[in-house]
Amino acid sequence: MSGVTVIDHPLVQHKLTLMRKKETSTASFRRLLKEISTLLTYEVTRDLDLTVLDIETPLGPMQAPILEGKKLVFASILRAGNGLLEGMLDLVPAARVAHVGMYRDHETLQPVEYYFKAPEDLASRLVIVVDPMLATANSSVAAVTKLKERGARQIRFLCLLAAPEGIERFRAGHPDVPIFTASIDERLNEKGYILPGLGDAGDRMYGTK
Ligand code: PRP
Ligand code: URA
Repeated sequence: MSGVTVIDHPLVQHKLTLMRKKETSTASFRRLLKEISTLLTYEVTRDLDLTVLDIETPLGPMQAPILEGKKLVFASILRAGNGLLEGMLDLVPAARVAHVGMYRDHETLQPVEYYFKAPEDLASRLVIVVDPMLATANSSVAAVTKLKERGARQIRFLCLLAAPEGIERFRAGHPDVPIFTASIDERLNEKGYILPGLGDAGDRMYGTK
């Protein structure tokens, strides 16, 4: 599928299976999500540009590679995005963070925005938007639209599970934004849940209903 990368690393797939199991506890679900998020971050940042820095090792000078450009921005779609954010910040501690507070109305499946806070200079940074679930894509499309309105130009979207319907809608809304996901599942059910999926990511992460 054009513009979509499936991160099929065996460790990611193994951990994802454990997360999908309905008997997996809240504590295990959270731990697994954090572990997976570092592996996903590794893949979503694989092609970042490097430049060189003149340094001195204990044995002499060298020109050593470092990341080029401004610090990344991780944009978390609340609440569930925060489950990915923690592990991402472990790997890229200097990243800036944006929060987009949004929940899905259970009847209409439309996103309701309740919070937004982002660094001001989004235009000059790579923004990686994170949310474990891409279902109808209503939330992610709205979040990316908002980030673009605030200046973001270079954006990637990272999730754990995606429905084919959501991918199609997201790519139609934001064809310039590549998607990275650990799995493309079968379809959405009549309530907009991903099948077979893993249930409600936020509820499983925080022990709510
Ligand atoms: C979930 C999920 C996404 C959204 C995906 O959040 O984390 O944000 O649903 O569905 P969509 O693609 O159909 O928009 P939810 O609204 O349940 O909020 P929460 O993270 O606070 O639990
Ligand atoms: N949000 C979730 O948390 N899970 C789904 O399957 C769909 C939307």
